[in-house]
Amino acid sequence: MKEELRKKILLKRNQLESDEVDRLSQGIVSKFTALKTYQQAGNVMLYLDFRNEVKTGPLIEKMLQDKKQVLIPVTDPSDYSLIVSELIDPQKDLFPSKFGMMEPNKDTLRPVDPNIIDLVLVPGLVFDKNGYRIGFGAGYYDRFLPTLDPHVPLVSLAYELQIVDVVPKEPHDVPVHMIVTEQRIIQCR
Ligand SMILES: Nc1ncnc2c1ncn2[C@@H]1O[C@H](COP(=O)(O)OP(=O)(O)O)[C@@H](O)[C@H]1O
Ligand SMILES: [Mg+2]
Repeated sequence: MKEELRKKILLKRNQLESDEVDRLSQGIVSKFTALKTYQQAGNVMLYLDFRNEVKTGPLIEKMLQDKKQVLIPVTDPSDYSLIVSELIDPQKDLFPSKFGMMEPNKDTLRPVDPNIIDLVLVPGLVFDKNGYRIGFGAGYYDRFLPTLDPHVPLVSLAYELQIVDVVPKEPHDVPVHMIVTEQRIIQCR
Protein backbone atom coordinates (compact mmCIF):
# COMPACT_ATOMS: atom_id res chain seq x y z
CA MET A 1 0.00 0.00 0.00
CA LYS A 2 2.71 2.44 1.06
CA GLU A 3 4.97 1.29 -1.76
CA GLU A 4 2.18 1.60 -4.35
CA LEU A 5 1.32 5.12 -3.25
CA ARG A 6 4.98 6.08 -3.29
CA LYS A 7 5.38 4.80 -6.85
CA LYS A 8 2.14 6.34 -8.11
CA ILE A 9 2.88 9.82 -6.78
CA LEU A 10 6.52 9.68 -7.77
CA LEU A 11 5.44 8.91 -11.32
CA LYS A 12 3.05 11.89 -11.31
CA ARG A 13 5.69 14.19 -9.90
CA ASN A 14 8.27 13.01 -12.43
CA GLN A 15 5.85 13.89 -15.22
CA LEU A 16 5.82 17.59 -14.33
CA GLU A 17 7.55 19.70 -16.96
CA SER A 18 10.52 21.65 -15.67
CA ASP A 19 8.85 25.05 -16.24
CA GLU A 20 5.87 23.77 -14.27
CA VAL A 21 8.19 22.69 -11.45
CA ASP A 22 9.70 26.18 -11.43
CA ARG A 23 6.34 27.92 -11.51
CA LEU A 24 4.74 25.82 -8.78
CA SER A 25 7.87 25.92 -6.62
CA GLN A 26 7.96 29.69 -6.83
CA GLY A 27 4.34 29.91 -5.65
CA ILE A 28 4.90 27.46 -2.81
CA VAL A 29 8.08 29.17 -1.63
CA SER A 30 6.47 32.62 -1.61
CA LYS A 31 3.58 31.26 0.47
CA PHE A 32 6.11 29.76 2.85
CA THR A 33 8.23 32.89 3.22
CA ALA A 34 5.11 34.93 4.00
CA LEU A 35 4.53 32.81 7.11
CA LYS A 36 5.42 34.08 10.55
CA THR A 37 6.86 30.65 11.27
CA TYR A 38 9.47 31.27 8.58
CA GLN A 39 10.05 34.93 9.42
CA GLN A 40 10.68 34.13 13.08
CA ALA A 41 13.17 31.37 12.34
CA GLY A 42 16.85 32.26 12.29
CA ASN A 43 18.30 28.81 11.65
CA VAL A 44 16.39 26.83 9.07
CA MET A 45 17.16 23.27 8.07
CA LEU A 46 16.07 22.51 4.52
CA TYR A 47 16.66 19.87 1.88
CA LEU A 48 18.38 20.40 -1.45
CA ASP A 49 15.80 19.49 -4.09
CA PHE A 50 16.39 16.40 -6.18
CA ARG A 51 14.63 15.53 -9.43
CA ASN A 52 11.21 17.21 -9.37
CA GLU A 53 10.98 18.01 -5.68
CA VAL A 54 9.72 21.50 -4.82
CA LYS A 55 12.77 23.65 -5.54
CA THR A 56 14.60 25.20 -2.62
CA GLY A 57 17.39 27.00 -4.54
CA PRO A 58 15.66 30.42 -4.67
CA LEU A 59 14.65 30.02 -1.02
CA ILE A 60 18.28 29.43 -0.05
CA GLU A 61 19.29 32.62 -1.88
CA LYS A 62 16.58 34.57 -0.06
CA MET A 63 17.58 33.12 3.30
CA LEU A 64 21.20 34.09 2.78
CA GLN A 65 20.10 37.63 1.86
CA ASP A 66 17.90 37.70 4.96
CA LYS A 67 20.96 36.66 7.02
CA LYS A 68 19.40 33.42 8.13
CA GLN A 69 21.50 30.36 8.76
CA VAL A 70 20.96 27.69 6.10
CA LEU A 71 21.33 24.16 7.43
CA ILE A 72 21.29 21.10 5.22
CA PRO A 73 21.03 17.40 5.99
CA VAL A 74 23.86 15.11 4.98
CA THR A 75 23.00 11.44 5.04
CA ASP A 76 25.21 8.98 6.86
CA PRO A 77 24.31 5.62 5.33
CA SER A 78 26.35 3.72 7.94
CA ASP A 79 23.65 4.27 10.57
CA TYR A 80 20.88 6.09 8.66
CA SER A 81 21.49 9.25 10.62
CA LEU A 82 21.51 12.84 9.36
CA ILE A 83 24.41 15.19 9.94
CA VAL A 84 23.29 18.83 9.99
CA SER A 85 25.73 21.06 8.13
CA GLU A 86 25.84 24.81 7.62
CA LEU A 87 25.65 25.93 3.99
CA ILE A 88 27.44 29.21 3.37
CA ASP A 89 27.81 29.35 -0.39
CA PRO A 90 25.69 27.00 -2.54
CA GLN A 91 27.95 27.72 -5.54
CA LYS A 92 31.13 26.62 -3.77
CA ASP A 93 30.06 24.21 -1.04
CA LEU A 94 28.19 21.55 -2.99
CA PHE A 95 29.23 18.67 -5.21
CA PRO A 96 27.22 15.88 -6.86
CA SER A 97 27.21 12.67 -4.82
CA LYS A 98 27.17 9.12 -6.16
CA PHE A 99 23.40 9.25 -6.37
CA GLY A 100 23.29 12.60 -8.15
CA MET A 101 22.26 14.59 -5.10
CA MET A 102 24.24 17.65 -4.12
CA GLU A 103 26.36 17.35 -0.98
CA PRO A 104 29.17 19.16 0.79
CA ASN A 105 32.58 17.51 0.62
CA LYS A 106 34.92 17.02 3.56
CA ASP A 107 36.18 20.60 3.31
CA THR A 108 32.77 22.22 3.15
CA LEU A 109 30.98 19.99 5.65
CA ARG A 110 30.32 22.20 8.68
CA PRO A 111 28.45 20.14 11.26
CA VAL A 112 26.34 22.06 13.75
CA ASP A 113 24.51 21.04 16.90
CA PRO A 114 20.94 20.13 15.82
CA ASN A 115 19.69 21.94 18.94
CA ILE A 116 20.18 25.27 17.14
CA ILE A 117 17.52 24.44 14.53
CA ASP A 118 14.44 26.72 14.62
CA LEU A 119 12.48 25.14 11.77
CA VAL A 120 12.80 22.07 9.55
CA LEU A 121 11.58 21.71 5.99
CA VAL A 122 10.85 18.00 5.81
CA PRO A 123 10.99 16.46 2.34
CA GLY A 124 8.58 13.75 1.26
CA LEU A 125 6.78 12.12 -1.63
CA VAL A 126 3.23 11.72 -0.33
CA PHE A 127 1.40 13.52 2.47
CA ASP A 128 -2.02 13.44 4.11
CA LYS A 129 -3.86 16.24 5.88
CA ASN A 130 -2.72 14.96 9.25
CA GLY A 131 0.88 15.54 8.27
CA TYR A 132 1.83 11.92 7.80
CA ARG A 133 4.30 11.40 5.01
CA ILE A 134 5.91 8.82 2.83
CA GLY A 135 9.57 9.48 2.21
CA PHE A 136 12.10 7.75 0.04
CA GLY A 137 11.85 4.69 2.23
CA ALA A 138 14.99 4.86 4.30
CA GLY A 139 13.46 6.46 7.39
CA TYR A 140 16.18 9.10 7.80
CA TYR A 141 13.76 11.77 9.01
CA ASP A 142 11.80 9.35 11.20
CA ARG A 143 15.04 8.74 13.08
CA PHE A 144 16.18 12.35 13.10
CA LEU A 145 13.03 14.31 13.96
CA PRO A 146 12.36 12.70 17.37
CA THR A 147 15.80 13.91 18.50
CA LEU A 148 14.67 17.56 18.15
CA ASP A 149 12.78 19.66 20.66
CA PRO A 150 9.09 18.93 20.00
CA HIS A 151 8.40 22.67 19.64
CA VAL A 152 10.48 22.99 16.48
CA PRO A 153 8.03 23.56 13.62
CA LEU A 154 8.11 20.83 10.97
CA VAL A 155 6.93 22.12 7.60
CA SER A 156 6.69 20.40 4.23
CA LEU A 157 6.58 22.01 0.81
CA ALA A 158 4.58 19.90 -1.63
CA TYR A 159 2.60 20.08 -4.85
CA GLU A 160 -1.12 19.53 -4.48
CA LEU A 161 -0.66 16.29 -6.46
CA GLN A 162 1.31 14.88 -3.51
CA ILE A 163 -1.61 15.21 -1.08
CA VAL A 164 -3.78 12.12 -0.56
CA ASP A 165 -6.61 11.30 1.85
CA VAL A 166 -4.72 8.87 4.03
CA VAL A 167 -1.10 7.84 4.25
CA PRO A 168 -0.67 4.46 5.96
CA LYS A 169 1.23 5.16 9.16
CA GLU A 170 3.54 3.14 11.33
CA PRO A 171 4.48 3.86 14.96
CA HIS A 172 7.89 5.31 14.00
CA ASP A 173 6.42 7.84 11.53
CA VAL A 174 6.69 11.48 12.61
CA PRO A 175 3.98 13.78 11.19
CA VAL A 176 4.75 17.34 10.10
CA HIS A 177 2.83 20.31 11.53
CA MET A 178 2.14 22.19 8.34
CA ILE A 179 2.14 21.56 4.60
CA VAL A 180 2.41 24.37 2.05
CA THR A 181 1.13 23.64 -1.46
CA GLU A 182 0.55 25.92 -4.44
CA GLN A 183 -3.12 26.11 -3.42
CA ARG A 184 -3.25 26.21 0.36
CA ILE A 185 -1.64 25.94 3.73
CA ILE A 186 -2.61 22.80 5.58
CA GLN A 187 -2.40 23.07 9.37
CA CYS A 188 -1.93 19.52 10.54
CA ARG A 189 -2.59 19.91 14.23
N1 LIG B 1 13.01 5.88 14.69
C1 LIG B 1 13.39 4.77 14.02
N2 LIG B 1 14.23 3.88 14.59
C2 LIG B 1 14.60 2.78 13.93
N3 LIG B 1 14.21 2.47 12.69
C3 LIG B 1 13.39 3.30 12.08
C4 LIG B 1 12.95 4.51 12.70
N4 LIG B 1 12.15 5.16 11.84
C5 LIG B 1 12.10 4.41 10.74
N5 LIG B 1 12.83 3.30 10.87
C6 LIG B 1 12.98 2.25 9.85
O1 LIG B 1 13.31 2.85 8.61
C7 LIG B 1 12.67 2.14 7.54
C8 LIG B 1 12.00 3.10 6.60
O2 LIG B 1 10.95 3.82 7.28
P1 LIG B 1 9.69 4.33 6.45
O3 LIG B 1 8.83 5.12 7.37
O4 LIG B 1 9.06 3.20 5.72
O5 LIG B 1 10.40 5.26 5.37
P2 LIG B 1 10.04 6.72 4.90
O6 LIG B 1 9.61 7.53 6.08
O7 LIG B 1 11.31 7.22 4.27
O8 LIG B 1 8.93 6.57 3.91
C9 LIG B 1 11.69 1.17 8.18
O9 LIG B 1 12.22 -0.13 8.04
C10 LIG B 1 11.64 1.57 9.63
O10 LIG B 1 11.48 0.46 10.47
MG1 LIG C 1 8.30 7.12 7.48
